[in-house]
Order: sequence, then structure tokens, then C-alpha cells
Amino acid sequence: MKTVLSLMVLISVMLTGCQSKKDTSIKPGEVWLDVDGNPINAHGGGLLYHQGMYYWYGEIKEGETYLPDCNKSWGGTRVDVTGVSCYSSKDLVNWKNEGIVLTSVKDDPSHDLYKDNVLERPKVVYNAKTKKFVLWVHVDSMDYQKASCGVAVSDNPTGPFVYQQSIRPNANILPLNVEHQDSIGGAFARDFEKGQMARDMTVFVDDDNKAYLFYSSEENKTHQIAELSDDYLSLTGKYKRVFEGRSMEAPAVFKRNGKYYFMASGCTAWEPNPARSAVAESIWGPWKELGNPCVGEGAEKTFISQSTYILPIQGKKDAYIFMADRWNKDDLPDSRYIWLPLRIDEEEKLVLQWHDEWDLAIFDK
Ligand code: DGJ
Repeated sequence: MKTVLSLMVLISVMLTGCQSKKDTSIKPGEVWLDVDGNPINAHGGGLLYHQGMYYWYGEIKEGETYLPDCNKSWGGTRVDVTGVSCYSSKDLVNWKNEGIVLTSVKDDPSHDLYKDNVLERPKVVYNAKTKKFVLWVHVDSMDYQKASCGVAVSDNPTGPFVYQQSIRPNANILPLNVEHQDSIGGAFARDFEKGQMARDMTVFVDDDNKAYLFYSSEENKTHQIAELSDDYLSLTGKYKRVFEGRSMEAPAVFKRNGKYYFMASGCTAWEPNPARSAVAESIWGPWKELGNPCVGEGAEKTFISQSTYILPIQGKKDAYIFMADRWNKDDLPDSRYIWLPLRIDEEEKLVLQWHDEWDLAIFDK
């Protein structure tokens, strides 16, 4: 009997030890492990909520971090392209790795997804009409001169996504707020025939299911907002230049009480800088800048992070998560995630405060 009991205790201890412990809080800046105990690898990411599940898509950063070398053709610190990862979660804290949903290409240097290129800031949206999942991503050459956006499509949120093409947006098309390309000049006029530059980007789907691409354009100096086609696979040619000359990267957009909110960073490569924010009554603007929403110690460097997405939490009012990357430019795979609750104050300004550790109950207070 004694032996049977000890055996039972042993088995129960082993079983408990084997059960993965559920996390209950978010610890910005710490290594975030997935449910298998591996660090989450989803940088410059975006979230999608679909049928009770959150999906987190991001850049896989792995392998050697190559430093800039003036004898070589790359303009900045980089890793080889591996692809886009996807993680799923019901509680936004415990994430299951769903694998690589868009894979790099190893043997065709002419392909956009060739390992020596750049693949950044993937964002996935669901098209209710076509029932397809559409992924938009910044694709670039090693020297960042291709400056294009790529699009891929899948029948499932967990892929595989089939790569369609990359585009330089709006070739030979004037934006809604420009009468002649020469009235602007600069990179805008230079790229008028070839299509506008598109680097850091995000996609926003409005309540009427119309979707818009926000991207850093014109050598990162000016942002552009472009309307997507009904199937979200291309652009309609309707677009606007916004935040002229304000040099913003890392855009994130959400809507609250009929108003559109925007967050971004300045342009300092992998280094943090003060965040930007803005509000508009219409997606097409006018956009009114609201300044840096960060408060307290570390505010001037956005708590050593750069925005990537703002997630409205399902079923909670005025509950938004600011998602950002804390880049480690010496070892890009060791970059961390900064997720913080985002508040909107009485004057309808965004407010972001540091928390060492927090959980979703913060939104119920
Ligand atoms: C800042 C951008 O936001 C990142 O996505 C990346 O492109 C780096 N610049 C490269 O320096």
C-alpha cells in the first residue's frame, strides 16, 4: 500500500511538473516565452482578432545581426529574412506558436522574399467579403531603396499565406490633396511615375469594412494614406499625403467614438525617440497632432521602444494595448516587446505610462 501511495504521489508530482504554467501578467521588456517555453519571435508585429482568437504576426528575427558596412551594399543593421511568424492566444498573455506563415525564399535572388532582402512590419486583416486573410508587409532591398509593400493571401489565419506581388503605390496618380506633382517636388515628384516609396506601414480596417494602408513615404519624410480595393489585395488609387515633412515611422491606427487616432515614432533607425500621436474626424484628415503621449520617467524615448500596433481589446470599453518593439540593434533577435495599456484622457488625448508588470484587469479599474 505504501509503495502504491508513493508511486501515486510521484506520478502526480511528475504530472504537475509537466503541465505548462499559465502566465497571468504582461512584463514589458522581459523575455516573453510562448506556451512551449520558447521566446516569442514576432517583431514589428500586428494583431488580428478572429472568431474568439487573437493572432499575433511578426517579423522572425533570427541568426546573425549584420552591422552596417560601408564596403557592402546594406544601409543598416539587419538579419537575413526568415519569414513572418504567427502566434495565437485567447487571453493575450499565453501564446501558442502557429509556425511560419509566410516563408522567405532561399534560392532566388530576384524574389521579394529572398533571404538577403528586408521584410518588416507584417499586418494581417480579414476580408469579410472574400473570407480571405490578407497580409501586407514592407518589402525592401538590403539597401532599403526598393521601399515597396508586399501582399500575400491565405484562407486561414494561420496560413500558409501565398505571396502575390510587391508594389510601389500609386504610380502616375495624384493624391487627393495635390493638384500637380511639381507643386510638391522632392521624392514625391521623383517617384511620381514609378510609384511612391512605402516603408514602415500598417493597415486599418474601418467600421464599413473599407481598409487603408498607412506608410512612410517620400524618403520617410511624409506619410501617405491609401485606400485598399474591396478585396484588400490592391490599392484603388485614392490617397493623400499627410504629416508633411514630419518624418514619422512605425504607424499604428485605431478608432474610438468615431475618431481616428494615430501613433508613430520619429525616424532614428533602431534607436528610440519621442512617440507622436494625432487625431482626426475623418481618415483623410485633417490630422491634428497631439504630441508625445508618454508620461513619466522614460517618456522622451517612448520607454525605449517604437510603436508597432494598437489593439482594441474585445468586449472591454476604452481598453487599448500599445504594442511596441524595444530593438537591440547589436543583437536584433534579442529585441523585446513593450506592451502597455493606452488611456484616453478627458481632453481625448492619448496617455501612455510605464508598468513593470500589469494584467488586463487594469482596464476594469
Ligand atoms: C526603423 C523602422 O521602424 C524599422 O522597422 C526598421 O526599418 C529600422 N528603422 C531600420 O533601421
